[in-house]
Amino acid sequence: MRVKDTRLPGWFVACLLVVLGTAAWADADLPTKFGNQRSVANTRHNMTQRQASGGPSGAIMDPYRNDYAEVCVYCHAPHGANANVALPLWNRTMKATTYTTYAQLGTSSWTQPVSQPGPNSLACLSCHDGQVAVDSIINMPGSGGYSGAQSGAQSNSFLNAWTNTRGPDASVHIGMSPVANQGCLACHSSGAGFVGAGATDFSIFVVGTDLRNDHPVGVKYPAADSGLDFKPTNAARPGMKWFDTDNDLRPDAREVRLYDSGDGFMVECASCHDPHGVPSGGAGSAFNPTFLRMGNSASALCLTCHTK
Ligand code: HEC
Ligand code: HEC
Ligand code: HEC
Ligand code: HEC
Ligand code: HEC
Repeated sequence: MRVKDTRLPGWFVACLLVVLGTAAWADADLPTKFGNQRSVANTRHNMTQRQASGGPSGAIMDPYRNDYAEVCVYCHAPHGANANVALPLWNRTMKATTYTTYAQLGTSSWTQPVSQPGPNSLACLSCHDGQVAVDSIINMPGSGGYSGAQSGAQSNSFLNAWTNTRGPDASVHIGMSPVANQGCLACHSSGAGFVGAGATDFSIFVVGTDLRNDHPVGVKYPAADSGLDFKPTNAARPGMKWFDTDNDLRPDAREVRLYDSGDGFMVECASCHDPHGVPSGGAGSAFNPTFLRMGNSASALCLTCHTK
């Protein structure tokens, strides 16, 4: 879909040059400017894209997405949330999509039934498959900014109704993938050239709709008596089984989990990742890299499930 002409206004290019005056024109995989500590607000999942300590990114991003000045609202809302998907108070547009699954790769060692990604993968894919804008939500902050129709289809006119107090109204709502040179990768990729100079390369974060090159999701976890090389979970409640490492019978953020949305207990994106960030040590310590539920040093994450 052709959304809108994204050629940059002259004033914006000028601002960009000022802001980036000293930045390298490398589009490299820069380390994040967020501290990855204490809160999702201080991670790359802060879609206001303003670090707690300030920084240039927010202003640069303003013309490309709505800055709702709240962190949770890009994913959750207290009212008017998406009731079509079994996710906690989910505030995002969910575009109906048929994904190419890992099972379609057809490895000879494959054993488990696979289905389309379940809710706890679709949540992530609502940004990471590149199809839906990061600011495409159903219920905007404040009164009146609600559209039930947004639960299944993104509307730019609805998103443009938001008055962005921190900058110009975002007129282009772009997903993460480069569709006809639109999308975040127009700047945030190694091939972005002048316009994206200095922007972190996050092409690796665009998982896309072909999941054959990703760890399988929507895949059933083998039963304990299957004879396969998998470790048994040791805690369960309706809808979830998990590896209860501290035996407190609560699925803690740092514990790897399986989700049942009707087809059995499955590995989903959120089995391995917690989108809010998980401290690597005690309270206040840096989060595990890439939102992992546990550090993967010595492949500890993989060995939670696989006996290898
Ligand atoms: C016009 C170019 C441009 C476009 C388009 C663009 N960005 Fe940016 N963005 C930048 C620049 C430049 C920075 C500042 C350098 C940096 O932190 O990478 C930045 C910073 C960021 C940051 C902060 C990075 C960090 O780790 O501190 C995030 C997150 C971000 N952008 C996300 C996005 C998303 C999501 C989109 C698409 C909706 C997008 N950007 C589209 C240029 C752009
Ligand atoms: C980038 C998207 C995203 C953002 C931002 C986000 N969440 Fe979540 N949240 C999720 C997803 C996905 C789940 C379901 C998967 C899971 O349970 O981890 C979830 C689950 C939850 C749950 C229920 C499960 C649990 O862990 O207790 C609560 C409560 C929650 N989020 C609160 C918040 C609050 C409060 C904020 C803002 C400070 C926030 N979230 C920001 C994506 C997000
Ligand atoms: C609201 C949109 C949104 C949702 C929902 C979302 N993400 Fe992200 N995620 C992003 C953006 C944008 C970035 C890139 C930000 C940057 O590079 O600074 C990102 C980055 C990441 C990264 C890289 C972090 C790093 O430090 O290198 C991982 C891993 C990730 N997301 C996993 C997930 C998983 C798993 C889920 C679901 C549980 C999820 N995301 C849900 C938007 C989202
Ligand atoms: C079996 C565990 C597991 C599952 C399931 C999983 N991931 Fe990951 N993911 C990882 C690990 C481990 C890394 C860190 C890879 C690294 O450091 O190279 C990672 C990294 C990432 C990154 C950062 C890019 C990179 O390669 O470093 C993104 C984005 C991401 N995952 C998104 C997702 C999404 C979206 C899903 C669901 C479709 C998902 N993940 C499912 C384990 C998993
Ligand atoms: C939450 C449990 C879980 C975690 C954690 C996990 N896996 Fe898996 N993995 C599975 C399941 C279930 C399958 C599907 C196996 C099958 O169908 O035979 C699978 C499949 C695979 C396959 C494909 C097997 C095939 O026959 O094609 C590989 C390779 C793999 N995992 C490697 C890893 C690595 C590497 C890690 C750590 C980054 C990891 N897994 C973490 C549960 C997990």
